[in-house]
Amino acid sequence: MSDDGRLVAVVTGANRGIGKAIVRQLLLQQSKPLIIYLTARNMERGQTAFDDLRREQLKATSPHFNELRFHQLDVQDIESIRAFIEYLTLVHGEQSTDILINNAGGVVRKGEEVVRKCDVETAFKTVQMNYFSAVNVCSLMVPSMRVGGRIVFMVTALAQLGIFSGDLPKVLVSDELSLQGLHIIENGFVSSVGKGTFSSYGFPPMPFAVAKAGLIAYARMMARICCNDPRELIFAAVCPGYVRTDMTGPYAPLTPDEGAETPVYVALTDDVKRLKRHNGGLWKRLRPIKW
Ligand SMILES: NC(=O)c1ccc[n+]([C@@H]2O[C@H](COP(=O)([O-])OP(=O)(O)OC[C@H]3O[C@@H](n4cnc5c(N)ncnc54)[C@H](OP(=O)(O)O)[C@@H]3O)[C@@H](O)[C@H]2O)c1
Repeated sequence: MSDDGRLVAVVTGANRGIGKAIVRQLLLQQSKPLIIYLTARNMERGQTAFDDLRREQLKATSPHFNELRFHQLDVQDIESIRAFIEYLTLVHGEQSTDILINNAGGVVRKGEEVVRKCDVETAFKTVQMNYFSAVNVCSLMVPSMRVGGRIVFMVTALAQLGIFSGDLPKVLVSDELSLQGLHIIENGFVSSVGKGTFSSYGFPPMPFAVAKAGLIAYARMMARICCNDPRELIFAAVCPGYVRTDMTGPYAPLTPDEGAETPVYVALTDDVKRLKRHNGGLWKRLRPIKW
C-alpha cells in the first residue's frame, strides 16, 4: 500500500442519494485513513456534491486525515471507465484501489415519473443501468485492486431467489454458472420480455429485481473465481433497505445515511474473518443474509 498508508476508496454514482451518504460516512469516520474518490457521470452535479461534503468535513471537529477527491465516471460508458482506471494507475500505481463501492444504478424514469411497466425498453435500460454497468466496472477494476481489496454491489431485497421459477433459482446459485451464462440469463430476460415469454422461462415481471439478482449472482461467482487469488479479494452484495432518495420518493422509512451503513461496514470492518466466511454473500442491516 502506498499513499502514506491511506486506503483508496472509489464510490460510483455518488453525487446524491445513498452514494453521497456512503462518501460522507467514509469521509467523516476516524477508524481508517482514506483517500476517497467521489465519482459521478455529470461534472457539475459531482462537483456540487464534492463541495457540500468538503464543507461538512471542514465543519467537523475531528481531525481531517481523510481526503476527498472528485473524478468524472459514467459507469455505462466503457471509455469513461477506462479513462478513470488510467488516471488511478497514474496517481496510485498498477495496484491502485482498496475499496470499490458499485453504487450507481436505479430505475427508469420518464420525467419525474418512475416507469413501472415491464416492457422491453424498460427491461433493456434497467438491465444495462444496473447489471452490465456494475459488471463492466468490476471486471475492469479487479486487476487493479490491492491485497485485501473489497468490492461491494448495491442490490435490493426484492431480488430474492424466490421471485424466479423453474430451473432459474438452481442455475443462479450453481457453482457451474459462468459470466457468459449470467450475461445470457440477463439478456434472455430482456428478449423474453420483448416476446412476452418471460414467465415461461421463470422470470418475474420485475426488471429492477432481475438486474440486481444478476449482481448478487455475480458477487457469488467472483468470490468463487477469485478464491485462489493471493490478494484475497472480498465481494459482497448489499441491500441498503428501503431508503428515501430520488429513486423511491419521500415515504421510504430509512434515511440515505441509514442506507449507507451496511456498505460502509463491509468496506471498513476489521472483522476480515467474518467477511471471508461470507465472501460473495448477500448482506443487510450489517449481517449476512440468505439469498
Ligand atoms: N433507495 C432505495 O431504497 C434502494 C433500495 C435498493 C437498492 N438501491 C440501490 O442503491 C443504489 C443507490 O440508490 P439511490 O436510491 O441513492 O438512487 P438515486 O438517488 O436514484 O441515485 C442514483 C445515483 O446513481 C447515479 N447514476 C445513475 N446512472 C449512472 C451512470 N451511468 N454513471 C454514473 N452514475 C450514475 C445517479 O447520477 P445522476 O444524478 O447523474 O443521475 C445518482 O447519483 C442504486 O444502485 C439503487 O439501485 C436503492
